[in-house]
Order: sequence, then C-alpha cells, then structure tokens
Amino acid sequence: MTVAIYPGSFDPMTHGHLSIIRSGLVVFDKLIVAVLRNPRKEALFTVEERVEMIREELAGAGDVEVDSFDGLLVEYCRRKNVRVVLRGLRAVADFEYELQMANMNRHLNTEVETVFLMANDAYFYVSSNLVKEAARLGGDVHRLVPPGVARRMTERLGPPRTGA
Ligand code: PNS
Repeated sequence: MTVAIYPGSFDPMTHGHLSIIRSGLVVFDKLIVAVLRNPRKEALFTVEERVEMIREELAGAGDVEVDSFDGLLVEYCRRKNVRVVLRGLRAVADFEYELQMANMNRHLNTEVETVFLMANDAYFYVSSNLVKEAARLGGDVHRLVPPGVARRMTERLGPPRTGA
C-alpha cells in the first residue's frame, strides 16, 4: 500500500488543494493531509478549524486521513512511517520554493521522496494567501474554495461586496 503525506498550511483549503488531493488519490492508495502548526505565522483559521474544514470536505473522498503536525516534516514522516511527500505545483513561480524545500527535506532525510502533481489548470492562480487577501478586501471568492470554507470566511470577514 503506497501512502503519501500531503503537508501544508491550508489556511484555508482551496479548490486547488482539492484538485491535488483528487489527483493524489489516483496515484496513491492513501493520503495523509497534514496541517502544519506554525505559531510564527498569523493565520485566519486555527489549526483545529482547518482540520475540521478539510475533514468535512473530504468525507467520502477515499482513503484520506486529516492530521496536524509541528516540527520537521521529515520527522513527522518518520513517525507516520511514510516515505513520500506530495506537493502540488501551479505556475513556474512555485518551482523554486518547492525545489528548495524538497532538497532540504532530502538533506534532512534521504529516505523521504517528494512527488509533485500539477494543479488543475482552472485553479492555477488560486492560492490561500490571495484568496484571503481578496476576501479581506470584500472580494467574492466563493467559487475558489469549498462551500464550507466560503461560509466560514464570510462569518469571519463579512460578506463579499463584489458580485462574481
Ligand atoms: O502550504 P505551505 O505553507 O506552502 O506548506 C509549507 C510546508 C508546511 C509544507 C512547509 O513549511 C513545511 O514542511 N514545514 C515544516 C517544517 C520543516 O520541515 N521545514 C524544513 C523543510 S523546508
């Protein structure tokens, strides 16, 4: 059974993340979606809220576990006894950051491999940071995130002031 860990901030989960999870389930038997606990990064949603939103969205989606972790990703992989990290690639802009991370992880643990899947091109430009920025400024982002996420964003940031 091939298992991969799909790590990230997921603040919040977008349709781009979902497209990677769907593709990941074609390649792997099981995915562990792992939300990073990062006290240094100011987040819109708590880790618990993010985990809950992801679980809601993935109910019935196949063999997916949703978890959180802190510290080094490769240490988390070791604890879970998993040797593959899954990351999504969007435009070229992602490449350098992803290359650095994959190389650092390989340096830290040569037994962990990183596998990249391409995001669905409909969501190539979608990132959690841009979704948050647009929503904070009153933009309507409901088509870029799952319905449960859109609802919680409206609760937290107020309703959108633009029509989409
Ligand atoms: O969604 P993101 O913010 O691009 O995800 C980044 C993440 C969580 C994959 C990365 O920051 C991470 O793995 N952090 C854990 C700390 C770590 O292992 N750092 C060394 C490798 S760069």
